[in-house]
Amino acid sequence: MWILGLDTSCDDTGVGLVRDGAVVVNLVASQTLLHQRYGGVVPELASREHIQVIDGLVQQALNTAKIEVSDLDLVAATRGPGLIGALLVGYTYGKGLAFALGKPFVAVHHLEGHIYAALAEHPEVEPPFLALVASGGHTHLFEVKRWGEYHLVGATLDDAAGEAFDKVARLLGLGYPGGPAIEQLAYQGDARRVPLSVPLQGQEGFAFSFSGLKTAVARALEKGYAAADIAASFQQVAVEHIVQVVSRAARYYGLSTLLVTGGVAQNAMLKARLQAAGLRLLFPPKGLATDNGAMIALAAWRTQAQRPQNQLSLPAAAYLPLSPAP
Ligand code: KG4
Ligand code: ZN
Repeated sequence: MWILGLDTSCDDTGVGLVRDGAVVVNLVASQTLLHQRYGGVVPELASREHIQVIDGLVQQALNTAKIEVSDLDLVAATRGPGLIGALLVGYTYGKGLAFALGKPFVAVHHLEGHIYAALAEHPEVEPPFLALVASGGHTHLFEVKRWGEYHLVGATLDDAAGEAFDKVARLLGLGYPGGPAIEQLAYQGDARRVPLSVPLQGQEGFAFSFSGLKTAVARALEKGYAAADIAASFQQVAVEHIVQVVSRAARYYGLSTLLVTGGVAQNAMLKARLQAAGLRLLFPPKGLATDNGAMIALAAWRTQAQRPQNQLSLPAAAYLPLSPAP
Protein backbone atom coordinates (compact mmCIF):
# COMPACT_ATOMS: atom_id res chain seq x y z
CA MET A 1 0.00 0.00 0.00
CA TRP A 2 1.45 3.34 -1.10
CA ILE A 3 0.69 6.41 1.00
CA LEU A 4 1.65 9.95 0.02
CA GLY A 5 2.19 12.21 3.06
CA LEU A 6 2.24 16.01 2.86
CA ASP A 7 3.23 18.54 5.51
CA THR A 8 3.14 22.30 4.92
CA SER A 9 2.35 23.38 8.48
CA CYS A 10 5.17 25.89 8.76
CA ASP A 11 8.21 26.71 6.66
CA ASP A 12 9.17 23.35 5.16
CA THR A 13 7.41 21.66 2.26
CA GLY A 14 7.45 17.99 3.20
CA VAL A 15 6.54 15.21 0.75
CA GLY A 16 6.96 11.58 1.75
CA LEU A 17 6.11 8.19 0.32
CA VAL A 18 5.53 5.25 2.62
CA ARG A 19 5.00 1.71 1.39
CA ASP A 20 3.43 -0.78 3.82
CA GLY A 21 4.69 1.25 6.76
CA ALA A 22 8.26 1.74 5.50
CA VAL A 23 9.62 5.13 4.41
CA VAL A 24 10.66 4.94 0.75
CA VAL A 25 11.11 8.63 -0.09
CA ASN A 26 11.22 11.69 2.14
CA LEU A 27 11.79 15.04 0.44
CA VAL A 28 11.86 18.34 2.28
CA ALA A 29 12.15 21.69 0.54
CA SER A 30 13.48 23.95 3.25
CA GLN A 31 12.59 27.64 3.29
CA THR A 32 15.27 28.48 5.83
CA LEU A 33 17.17 30.77 3.46
CA LEU A 34 14.00 32.63 2.51
CA HIS A 35 13.11 33.47 6.12
CA GLN A 36 16.61 33.77 7.52
CA ARG A 37 16.99 37.49 6.96
CA TYR A 38 13.77 38.18 8.87
CA GLY A 39 14.92 36.16 11.89
CA GLY A 40 11.78 34.00 11.78
CA VAL A 41 9.09 32.60 9.54
CA VAL A 42 7.03 35.14 7.54
CA PRO A 43 3.66 33.36 7.09
CA GLU A 44 2.67 34.84 3.74
CA LEU A 45 6.06 34.12 2.20
CA ALA A 46 5.85 30.56 3.51
CA SER A 47 2.46 29.97 1.84
CA ARG A 48 3.63 31.33 -1.50
CA GLU A 49 6.76 29.23 -1.47
CA HIS A 50 4.77 26.06 -0.66
CA ILE A 51 2.58 26.76 -3.71
CA GLN A 52 5.67 27.18 -5.88
CA VAL A 53 7.32 23.91 -4.95
CA ILE A 54 4.73 21.35 -3.86
CA ASP A 55 3.73 19.95 -7.23
CA GLY A 56 7.32 19.58 -8.44
CA LEU A 57 8.27 17.92 -5.16
CA VAL A 58 5.45 15.38 -5.44
CA GLN A 59 6.55 14.58 -9.01
CA GLN A 60 10.14 14.19 -7.82
CA ALA A 61 9.02 11.85 -5.02
CA LEU A 62 7.05 9.67 -7.45
CA ASN A 63 10.00 9.58 -9.87
CA THR A 64 12.41 8.61 -7.10
CA ALA A 65 10.11 5.78 -6.01
CA LYS A 66 9.59 4.83 -9.66
CA ILE A 67 5.82 4.81 -9.36
CA GLU A 68 2.97 6.60 -11.12
CA VAL A 69 0.57 8.90 -9.35
CA SER A 70 -2.15 6.30 -10.04
CA ASP A 71 -0.21 3.79 -7.89
CA LEU A 72 -1.05 5.79 -4.77
CA ASP A 73 -3.58 4.08 -2.51
CA LEU A 74 -4.11 6.94 -0.07
CA VAL A 75 -3.19 10.60 0.31
CA ALA A 76 -2.54 12.05 3.79
CA ALA A 77 -1.87 15.66 4.72
CA THR A 78 -1.37 17.71 7.88
CA ARG A 79 -4.66 19.22 8.98
CA GLY A 80 -3.19 21.34 11.80
CA PRO A 81 -1.96 22.92 13.96
CA GLY A 82 0.21 25.40 12.11
CA LEU A 83 0.14 28.56 10.04
CA ILE A 84 -3.26 28.43 8.35
CA GLY A 85 -2.16 29.82 4.99
CA ALA A 86 0.74 27.37 4.85
CA LEU A 87 -1.35 24.40 6.04
CA LEU A 88 -3.97 25.05 3.39
CA VAL A 89 -1.49 24.60 0.56
CA GLY A 90 -0.58 20.98 1.32
CA TYR A 91 -3.99 20.12 2.69
CA THR A 92 -5.89 21.41 -0.32
CA TYR A 93 -3.36 19.96 -2.75
CA GLY A 94 -3.74 16.56 -1.04
CA LYS A 95 -7.52 16.73 -1.14
CA GLY A 96 -7.52 17.68 -4.81
CA LEU A 97 -5.14 14.89 -5.71
CA ALA A 98 -7.05 12.25 -3.73
CA PHE A 99 -10.34 13.39 -5.23
CA ALA A 100 -8.98 13.32 -8.77
CA LEU A 101 -7.54 9.83 -8.22
CA GLY A 102 -10.66 8.55 -6.50
CA LYS A 103 -8.54 7.48 -3.49
CA PRO A 104 -9.20 8.17 0.20
CA PHE A 105 -7.92 11.40 1.74
CA VAL A 106 -6.79 11.22 5.38
CA ALA A 107 -6.29 14.27 7.64
CA VAL A 108 -3.39 13.93 10.10
CA HIS A 109 -2.61 15.90 13.26
CA HIS A 110 0.89 17.38 12.99
CA LEU A 111 1.93 16.21 16.46
CA GLU A 112 0.71 12.70 15.74
CA GLY A 113 3.02 12.83 12.73
CA HIS A 114 5.97 13.72 14.97
CA ILE A 115 5.10 10.88 17.35
CA TYR A 116 4.90 8.24 14.62
CA ALA A 117 8.19 9.48 13.11
CA ALA A 118 9.97 8.31 16.25
CA LEU A 119 8.36 4.88 15.89
CA ALA A 120 9.59 4.41 12.31
CA GLU A 121 12.38 2.10 13.46
CA HIS A 122 10.55 0.65 16.46
CA PRO A 123 7.57 -1.31 15.15
CA GLU A 124 7.69 -3.46 18.30
CA VAL A 125 6.80 -0.61 20.68
CA GLU A 126 3.36 -0.68 22.24
CA PRO A 127 1.66 1.94 24.42
CA PRO A 128 1.58 3.13 27.13
CA PHE A 129 4.61 5.43 26.93
CA LEU A 130 5.47 9.11 27.30
CA ALA A 131 5.96 11.27 24.22
CA LEU A 132 7.72 14.62 24.28
CA VAL A 133 7.18 16.80 21.23
CA ALA A 134 9.70 19.66 21.36
CA SER A 135 9.88 21.86 18.30
CA GLY A 136 9.73 25.50 17.28
CA GLY A 137 6.01 25.65 17.93
CA HIS A 138 5.38 22.99 20.57
CA THR A 139 6.60 21.69 23.90
CA HIS A 140 4.05 19.04 24.73
CA LEU A 141 4.42 15.99 26.92
CA PHE A 142 1.81 13.30 26.23
CA GLU A 143 0.99 10.00 27.77
CA VAL A 144 0.17 7.76 24.79
CA LYS A 145 -2.35 5.47 26.44
CA ARG A 146 -3.39 3.48 23.39
CA TRP A 147 -2.77 3.97 19.68
CA GLY A 148 -4.60 7.15 18.80
CA GLU A 149 -5.42 8.01 22.45
CA TYR A 150 -3.37 10.78 24.01
CA HIS A 151 -3.44 12.43 27.41
CA LEU A 152 -1.69 15.80 27.65
CA VAL A 153 0.56 15.57 30.72
CA GLY A 154 2.15 19.01 30.43
CA ALA A 155 2.94 21.81 28.03
CA THR A 156 4.85 25.05 27.97
CA LEU A 157 3.37 28.02 29.82
CA ASP A 158 5.00 30.45 27.40
CA ASP A 159 7.61 29.87 24.66
CA ALA A 160 8.22 26.50 23.03
CA ALA A 161 11.63 24.91 23.61
CA GLY A 162 12.78 25.41 20.00
CA GLU A 163 11.41 28.95 20.04
CA ALA A 164 13.59 29.66 23.09
CA PHE A 165 16.66 28.36 21.22
CA ASP A 166 15.68 30.55 18.24
CA LYS A 167 15.12 33.68 20.36
CA VAL A 168 18.33 33.23 22.34
CA ALA A 169 20.20 32.67 19.07
CA ARG A 170 18.84 35.94 17.80
CA LEU A 171 19.97 37.73 20.97
CA LEU A 172 23.43 36.27 20.46
CA GLY A 173 23.49 37.37 16.82
CA LEU A 174 23.42 33.79 15.50
CA GLY A 175 21.46 32.60 12.50
CA TYR A 176 18.04 31.01 12.22
CA PRO A 177 17.16 28.26 13.09
CA GLY A 178 18.79 28.84 16.42
CA GLY A 179 18.97 25.33 17.88
CA PRO A 180 21.84 23.97 15.80
CA ALA A 181 23.69 27.33 15.97
CA ILE A 182 23.51 27.40 19.78
CA GLU A 183 24.52 23.78 20.02
CA GLN A 184 27.65 24.46 17.94
CA LEU A 185 28.61 27.62 19.80
CA ALA A 186 28.04 25.92 23.16
CA TYR A 187 30.88 23.47 22.44
CA GLN A 188 33.27 26.42 22.58
CA GLY A 189 31.88 27.85 25.81
CA ASP A 190 31.95 27.08 29.52
CA ALA A 191 28.50 26.86 31.10
CA ARG A 192 29.91 27.42 34.61
CA ARG A 193 30.88 31.00 33.78
CA VAL A 194 27.28 32.18 33.36
CA PRO A 195 24.92 31.45 36.24
CA LEU A 196 21.39 30.80 34.95
CA SER A 197 18.78 28.98 36.99
CA VAL A 198 16.67 26.04 35.87
CA PRO A 199 13.06 27.21 35.24
CA LEU A 200 10.33 26.05 37.65
CA GLN A 201 12.91 24.14 39.71
CA GLY A 202 11.48 22.56 42.82
CA GLN A 203 7.91 22.97 41.60
CA GLU A 204 5.49 20.13 41.18
CA GLY A 205 3.49 19.40 38.06
CA PHE A 206 4.69 18.91 34.53
CA ALA A 207 4.65 22.39 32.99
CA PHE A 208 7.54 23.84 31.02
CA SER A 209 8.62 27.48 30.87
CA PHE A 210 11.33 29.08 28.76
CA SER A 211 10.59 32.79 28.55
CA GLY A 212 12.28 33.70 31.86
CA LEU A 213 15.41 31.99 30.61
CA LYS A 214 15.38 34.16 27.52
CA THR A 215 15.20 37.29 29.71
CA ALA A 216 18.06 35.99 31.86
CA VAL A 217 20.13 35.54 28.72
CA ALA A 218 19.44 39.15 27.71
CA ARG A 219 20.68 40.28 31.18
CA ALA A 220 23.81 38.12 30.90
CA LEU A 221 24.57 39.72 27.53
CA GLU A 222 24.22 43.20 29.04
CA LYS A 223 26.66 42.19 31.76
CA GLY A 224 29.23 41.38 29.08
CA TYR A 225 29.46 37.59 29.35
CA ALA A 226 30.90 35.90 26.26
CA ALA A 227 28.35 34.59 23.73
CA ALA A 228 29.82 31.06 23.75
CA ASP A 229 29.59 30.84 27.56
CA ILE A 230 26.01 32.13 27.47
CA ALA A 231 25.09 29.59 24.77
CA ALA A 232 26.63 26.77 26.83
CA SER A 233 24.86 27.81 30.01
CA PHE A 234 21.51 28.39 28.29
CA GLN A 235 21.62 25.00 26.59
CA GLN A 236 22.56 23.22 29.80
CA VAL A 237 19.80 24.86 31.83
CA ALA A 238 17.13 24.40 29.13
CA VAL A 239 18.06 20.73 28.78
CA GLU A 240 18.12 20.25 32.56
CA HIS A 241 14.62 21.75 32.79
CA ILE A 242 13.27 19.32 30.19
CA VAL A 243 14.99 16.36 31.87
CA GLN A 244 13.60 17.29 35.30
CA VAL A 245 10.01 17.55 34.06
CA VAL A 246 10.02 14.34 32.02
CA SER A 247 11.77 12.37 34.78
CA ARG A 248 9.14 13.53 37.26
CA ALA A 249 6.37 12.53 34.85
CA ALA A 250 7.97 9.13 34.24
CA ARG A 251 7.99 8.45 37.99
CA TYR A 252 4.46 9.75 38.51
CA TYR A 253 2.92 7.76 35.66
CA GLY A 254 5.11 4.71 36.26
CA LEU A 255 6.35 4.76 32.65
CA SER A 256 9.95 4.10 31.67
CA THR A 257 9.72 4.56 27.89
CA LEU A 258 10.02 8.07 26.49
CA LEU A 259 9.63 9.03 22.87
CA VAL A 260 11.33 12.33 21.98
CA THR A 261 10.52 14.06 18.74
CA GLY A 262 10.44 17.47 17.02
CA GLY A 263 13.44 19.57 16.00
CA VAL A 264 14.82 19.86 19.54
CA ALA A 265 15.11 16.04 19.69
CA GLN A 266 18.21 16.51 17.54
CA ASN A 267 20.06 18.18 20.41
CA ALA A 268 22.94 15.92 21.44
CA MET A 269 23.07 17.18 25.03
CA LEU A 270 19.35 16.53 25.51
CA LYS A 271 19.83 13.00 24.22
CA ALA A 272 22.80 12.35 26.50
CA ARG A 273 21.12 13.75 29.62
CA LEU A 274 17.93 11.79 29.02
CA GLN A 275 19.97 8.64 28.54
CA ALA A 276 21.66 9.31 31.88
CA ALA A 277 18.20 9.58 33.48
CA GLY A 278 17.69 5.87 32.86
CA LEU A 279 14.74 6.02 30.49
CA ARG A 280 14.22 3.80 27.49
CA LEU A 281 14.40 6.35 24.69
CA LEU A 282 12.85 6.37 21.24
CA PHE A 283 14.19 8.98 18.84
CA PRO A 284 13.22 9.54 15.22
CA PRO A 285 15.81 8.45 12.67
CA LYS A 286 17.80 11.23 11.02
CA GLY A 287 15.64 13.25 8.66
CA LEU A 288 12.41 12.42 10.46
CA ALA A 289 12.90 14.60 13.56
CA THR A 290 12.11 17.93 11.93
CA ASP A 291 8.97 18.56 9.89
CA ASN A 292 8.54 16.19 6.96
CA GLY A 293 5.93 14.45 4.86
CA ALA A 294 6.92 10.85 5.60
CA MET A 295 5.86 11.22 9.24
CA ILE A 296 2.37 12.22 8.08
CA ALA A 297 2.17 9.14 5.87
CA LEU A 298 3.46 6.98 8.76
CA ALA A 299 0.77 8.33 11.10
CA ALA A 300 -1.91 7.66 8.48
CA TRP A 301 -0.56 4.13 8.02
CA ARG A 302 -0.59 3.31 11.75
CA THR A 303 -3.88 4.93 12.68
CA GLN A 304 -6.13 4.89 9.66
CA ALA A 305 -4.86 2.79 6.79
CA GLN A 306 -6.78 -0.32 7.80
CA ARG A 307 -10.16 1.36 7.54
CA PRO A 308 -9.56 4.71 5.86
CA GLN A 309 -12.42 7.16 6.07
CA ASN A 310 -12.49 9.77 3.40
CA GLN A 311 -12.01 13.07 5.22
CA LEU A 312 -12.44 15.46 2.32
CA SER A 313 -14.99 17.49 4.23
CA LEU A 314 -12.78 18.17 7.29
CA PRO A 315 -11.38 21.73 7.27
CA ALA A 316 -7.76 22.59 8.08
CA ALA A 317 -7.26 24.18 11.52
CA ALA A 318 -4.53 26.50 12.79
CA TYR A 319 -5.44 25.63 16.38
CA LEU A 320 -6.05 21.94 16.91
CA PRO A 321 -5.43 20.31 20.32
CA LEU A 322 -4.45 16.63 20.20
CA SER A 323 -6.04 16.07 23.59
CA PRO A 324 -7.89 18.30 26.07
CA ALA A 325 -5.72 20.52 28.29
CA PRO A 326 -4.84 19.00 31.72
O1 KG4 B 1 10.08 20.22 14.27
P1 KG4 B 1 10.70 21.42 13.66
O2 KG4 B 1 11.50 21.25 12.40
O3 KG4 B 1 9.61 22.48 13.25
C1 KG4 B 1 8.53 22.84 14.02
O4 KG4 B 1 7.48 22.16 13.92
O5 KG4 B 1 8.70 23.83 14.75
O6 KG4 B 1 11.56 22.11 14.79
C2 KG4 B 1 12.36 23.26 14.54
C3 KG4 B 1 12.86 23.78 15.86
C4 KG4 B 1 13.56 25.11 15.74
O7 KG4 B 1 13.08 25.97 16.77
C5 KG4 B 1 15.04 24.77 15.97
O8 KG4 B 1 15.76 25.82 16.57
C6 KG4 B 1 14.93 23.57 16.88
O9 KG4 B 1 13.81 22.85 16.43
N1 KG4 B 1 16.14 22.73 16.80
C7 KG4 B 1 16.99 22.52 17.81
C8 KG4 B 1 18.05 21.74 17.28
N2 KG4 B 1 17.80 21.50 15.97
C9 KG4 B 1 16.61 22.11 15.69
N3 KG4 B 1 16.97 22.92 19.08
C10 KG4 B 1 17.99 22.54 19.86
N4 KG4 B 1 19.05 21.82 19.45
C11 KG4 B 1 19.12 21.40 18.16
N5 KG4 B 1 20.16 20.68 17.74
ZN1 ZN C 1 6.71 20.13 13.74
